[in-house]
Amino acid sequence: MTTYAYSTDRPAAVRASLLIVPMFEGGRPGPGADELGVAPAFAAAKLTGKKGETLLVPKRDGDGFAADAVLLVGAGAADDADDTTIRRVLGRVGATARRFGSVATTFALAAKGAEPAEAVQAAAEGLGLGAYRFDRLKTKTKPNDVGDLKRVTILGDAGWGAPDMRKAVGRAGVIVDSVSWARDLVNLPAGDLPPAAIAKEAQAMAKATGLTCKVWTEAQLKAKGFGGILGVGQGSVNPPRLIELTYTGAGKATPIALTGKGIAFDSGGLSIKDASGMETMKDDMGGAASILATMRAIAVLKPKINVIAAIPCAENMPSGSAQKPGDVIRHYGGITSEVLNTDAEGRLVLADALALLSEREPELVIDTATLTGACMIALGPDIAGAMGNDDDLAHEVVAAGAAVGEPIWQLPLFRDYRALIDSNIADVKNIGKRYGGAITAALFLSEFVGDTPWLHLDIAGPAFSENGNDLGPKGGTGVPVRTLVRFLLDRAA
Ligand code: BES
Ligand code: MN
Ligand code: ZN
Repeated sequence: MTTYAYSTDRPAAVRASLLIVPMFEGGRPGPGADELGVAPAFAAAKLTGKKGETLLVPKRDGDGFAADAVLLVGAGAADDADDTTIRRVLGRVGATARRFGSVATTFALAAKGAEPAEAVQAAAEGLGLGAYRFDRLKTKTKPNDVGDLKRVTILGDAGWGAPDMRKAVGRAGVIVDSVSWARDLVNLPAGDLPPAAIAKEAQAMAKATGLTCKVWTEAQLKAKGFGGILGVGQGSVNPPRLIELTYTGAGKATPIALTGKGIAFDSGGLSIKDASGMETMKDDMGGAASILATMRAIAVLKPKINVIAAIPCAENMPSGSAQKPGDVIRHYGGITSEVLNTDAEGRLVLADALALLSEREPELVIDTATLTGACMIALGPDIAGAMGNDDDLAHEVVAAGAAVGEPIWQLPLFRDYRALIDSNIADVKNIGKRYGGAITAALFLSEFVGDTPWLHLDIAGPAFSENGNDLGPKGGTGVPVRTLVRFLLDRAA
C-alpha cells in the first residue's frame, strides 16, 4: 500500500529517495529545477523537454538538496501542463518511482489552467496508477522490477489551502487503490475468478468498507426468474451470481443505480469464439470490476448521495447444458428474448440487472460493459462508447470522463435500428445485422430500463490495454472507475 502526503516544503528540503521535477519544451526548467541546481545537467544531456524524456541526477557530495536523486522529466509545452498532462506524464515514470520507493514531485506547482486541488490529485493519481503492476503470479522477479511505491509526496504552494490539498491527495489514494483493485480483478485468470469468487471479493470489500452486500445464488435467481443470467450461466460448471451493493450517504434520497457486465469468461458459448478471440476474454468482467471498485471508492470517500448496484456474474461456456441458438429466455420482469447468438451474452445478463434496478425507481441508471467488438471498430481501443435515452446524462458522463482523462464518445441510440432486433417469436432478439453492432446492443438494453434515465458505456476497447499506456501496464485498466467516481462526487456536491 502506498501512503499519499501533501507538503509545502521547499523542493531542496524534501526528504525522499526520488524527487521528480518537470522540464518544459525549450529546456525551460520546471518548479524546483533551478533551486536544486539540476537544470544544467538536462541541457548537458542534450534534452529539450519533450514528453518521454527523462534524466536521473543522483545526489553528489555538495549538492544542495535533501533527496537522494532528482528525476527530470520532459513535460512538453509549459502552457499545456493541465491536470490531464500531469497525470499522464507522471504515469509514465511510475515504474521508476516504484523502484525508488519514496518519491516527491513538484509537478502540481507547474499546473496551468487547472485548480490546485485538481493538479495535486492528478499528480498523485499519475504516480500511483503508473506504478501499478500485476506480478503476484510471477515467481521470478526481474532485477528492474524490484521495489514498491511506498510513499508519494505532492509538493504545493503555501498559498493553497492545505486542508483541501490534503483532501485531494487522500482522494487520489482512494481512487488509485480502487482502480488497482479493478485491474487486479480483470488481470486475475478466469480460472481463479469464477462468479462465486467475484461475489466473495465483493462481500469482503463490502465488509471492509461498510457497504451492504447481498449475493443471489443460482437457486435464488431461479426462484425470481432471472432468465438472462441463468441462461448465459447454464453451460458452465461454475454457477452464476448476482451481487447487490448498497451505499447510503444521503438518508432517504433517491439512489443512483449502477451495473456492470460480469462475464467471468466469455468463450462465446455454443456460438464459440476462435482461439485468438478468447485470449483476452477473462476481461469480460471488466464492467463488473469497475462497478465494484466504484462502490469501494464511494464507500470510503462517503459523499452525500445514495448508490445501489446490481452486478450480474456468469461464465459463458459451451457444454451439454449450454443454452442453444434459438432458445428463448424470460428475463427478470418478464420480457422475452430470442438468443440467436450465444456470444451476444452480455446484454442478456445486463437485461436482468437493468430490469431489477429500474424496478427500484432510481434517479438514473448507468451500466458499463465490455459489450461489443463493433464499438472497438467504431472508436478504436482507447475510447468508450456512450449510448442512452437521456442526452443530458450522456453529456454529464462524457464531461466527467474528459475531466479525468478517460475518453468517452457518445454514439446515437438510433431508434430506426430497433427493427433490426425484432424477433419472430419473442419480444426481442439478441443480435442485429452486421453493421451498427454497438447501437443494436444498446437498443437491446434500452428495452429493460423503462423510462428510467439511463446511460450505457461500452468499454470493450478501453477496459483492457493490449500494449500498456501512460497510466498503466498491459492488461486491465480499471476504466471507467475514475469517470464514475467523478460523476458521483460531482452529483453529491
Ligand atoms: N465480450 C464480447 C465483446 C468483446 C469483443 C469485448 C472483443 C472485448 C473485445 C461480447 O460478448 C461479444 O462476443 N460480442 C459479440 C456480439 C455479436 C455476437 C453480436 C461481438 O462483438 O462480436
Ligand atoms: Mn460474447
Ligand atoms: Zn462478452
